[in-house]
Amino acid sequence: MKRFLLIALTATISIAPAYADNHLKQRAMESKTVVKEFMGQLKGELQAAMKAGGPGNAINVCKESAPLIAKNLSDKYGWKVARTSLKTRNPNNAPDAWEADVLRKFEARKQAGEDVKPMAYFAEVEDKGSKSFRFMKAIPTGEACLKCHGTNIDAKVVAKLDATYPEDKARGFKLGDIRGAFTIVQPIN
Ligand code: HEC
Repeated sequence: MKRFLLIALTATISIAPAYADNHLKQRAMESKTVVKEFMGQLKGELQAAMKAGGPGNAINVCKESAPLIAKNLSDKYGWKVARTSLKTRNPNNAPDAWEADVLRKFEARKQAGEDVKPMAYFAEVEDKGSKSFRFMKAIPTGEACLKCHGTNIDAKVVAKLDATYPEDKARGFKLGDIRGAFTIVQPIN
């Protein structure tokens, strides 16, 4: 009887963290799918707008569509879905303390040689008594991004950016830099 109890106890102890772990991994997988959905929609609209009228025209896509896609996905899943960065163009996208910390860790991981493309982080977080699952996925700076986030932006584009985003910090990025991250908050009841 004693032995049985011991086995049962050991089993419970070892299963509990594994269960919690799988639970988080499941949420992370779902988050990754939503990030792909976000990226796919935005990329499609951005490419079409660039083709139709160059970066000057496509600024409006980033301004109007990106927040709209984020809002629609947030409503669809009941999560907070957004983009953020340590150097934001729109101050509405500024990171909170937890996000800023993860973004700084992403920079350190990149410095240590890690590939940016699959870089992600997730955790269960408790804030003022309410629990949530938080997920972030790094966004690398690609060639196409440099036209609006690079070091050599066309004068007309600069003028339009200056007019729309007086607090723009999202310039001067180089190919492969971490431009920012997708960020997801799933409430846990
Ligand atoms: C046509 C110009 C343009 C191009 C090209 C462009 N962006 Fe942006 N980007 C913007 C604008 C404008 C905003 C501000 C959107 C807003 O008001 O929320 C922005 C915002 C962002 C943000 C949100 C954080 C912030 O700075 O406010 C991220 C992340 C981002 N861009 C990444 C990228 C990546 C990655 C690429 C390349 C795949 C890219 N952008 C290409 C214009 C552009």
